[in-house]
Amino acid sequence: MSIKPREHWSSRTGFVMAAVGSAVGLGNMWRFSYLTAENGGAAFVVLYLVVTLLVGLPILLAELVVGRGSQRSPIRALVHFGGRAWTPLGFVFVAAGFLILSYYSVIAGWTLRYAGIVLFSGFDATIADRFEDVASGWDAFAFHLLFMAVTVAIVAGGIKSGIERSAIVLIPALVLIVCGLALYAATLDGATQGYAYYLDTDFSKIRSLRVLKDATGQAFFSLSLGMGAMLTYASYLGRDHHLPNESVVIASADMAIAFIAGLVVFPLIFALGLSDEVGGSTVGALFITLPHAFAGMGAIGRVVGILFFAALIVGALTSAISLLEVVVASAIDGLGWSRHRAAWVMGIAIAVLGAPSAWSTEVLGVIDQIANNLFLLGGGLALALFVGWVMKDPIAEVRAGAEGIRWFFLWRTFLRFAVPVGLGFVLLQAVPDTWNAVVKLFES
Ligand code: PHE
Repeated sequence: MSIKPREHWSSRTGFVMAAVGSAVGLGNMWRFSYLTAENGGAAFVVLYLVVTLLVGLPILLAELVVGRGSQRSPIRALVHFGGRAWTPLGFVFVAAGFLILSYYSVIAGWTLRYAGIVLFSGFDATIADRFEDVASGWDAFAFHLLFMAVTVAIVAGGIKSGIERSAIVLIPALVLIVCGLALYAATLDGATQGYAYYLDTDFSKIRSLRVLKDATGQAFFSLSLGMGAMLTYASYLGRDHHLPNESVVIASADMAIAFIAGLVVFPLIFALGLSDEVGGSTVGALFITLPHAFAGMGAIGRVVGILFFAALIVGALTSAISLLEVVVASAIDGLGWSRHRAAWVMGIAIAVLGAPSAWSTEVLGVIDQIANNLFLLGGGLALALFVGWVMKDPIAEVRAGAEGIRWFFLWRTFLRFAVPVGLGFVLLQAVPDTWNAVVKLFES
């Protein structure tokens, strides 16, 4: 048992920036835009927003409550409120951190690589065909290692001087860049078609369970839910914070950035007449179509490309930090390791685990499905049941710092019934889909 007082964020802004940093990342730009393209545009966006509000927000508040209430890393936090029987769920959270970071960092590595290309030589017309070279093999692995090293160095720096300090600089920069790019994209010739593709709603498209599954998975991934990342960050909070307000701010920022990223991506694609390429989209869509677009835009494409990849790198970094922090905090609390040791040992283990994803984008895609469909959705379901039924008086914990509010019993009722039923329903689709993806990978 550690008796050292737990390090806390130095200010509300510090916590909010770090949490928004966790939420905003590749999920908002890479994943959001390829899923939107795959699922027919705005209908998917609407569904994703609805799921974020109805399911994401209550679970986000639940994570904050368990984290701040326990002042512990995930495994211990669950045991603290629920007893030893909940240890396995804590381990599932930590395993999810391992798994997600292992491929997330590979994608971040592609981003670094593209940033380097656009910075030093600019893209040329063949860039779209070279995606596989960039995305797999030794090069991909090397850039993945580089990205992991930066992540580890920041997490080793601690809560205030590592995580908080980097987020306070990086997140405003990211917001500025993404908004600036959206304004620029609005001036392009193809902007109107891009917006039409993105924002015209064909509600018949969202009547399939598969789209609902993708939207729910995306809501969880994008808000960093279901694996204890928000829980861990909240464990460094004092009891004077207004948790419901914090969760609304975090979720709004996350949705806003995803939405604005769409306003960048779709006009760019349509301006260059590349919409057919998106049709056959895979995990690589953003990395194939956009560099192609930048290449077609001449000198200005180089500036836009640099800014775009800079925003992606920043988003990826602040999210990767939160993924690693789940694992590191657990090693510090559970094994009594120093932060420095925990960050490096766990970081190296995760870097090695990323090797299969670095060598095959198919493997990467399947691991992304496993992580999302099984770990995050399953973790979210378990957490809703935990706070809804097991934890004693979570409402008292929300009240600390948020006195006056009276509707909390609704939140708990939601966690007890609506959220588990909804997630259970989505898992009915998610589990067989994931199974099929795994089988397909082994057959190929
Ligand atoms: N929310 C991050 C993103 O959108 C990814 C993430 C998932 C981070 C789970 C932490 C935990 O890119």
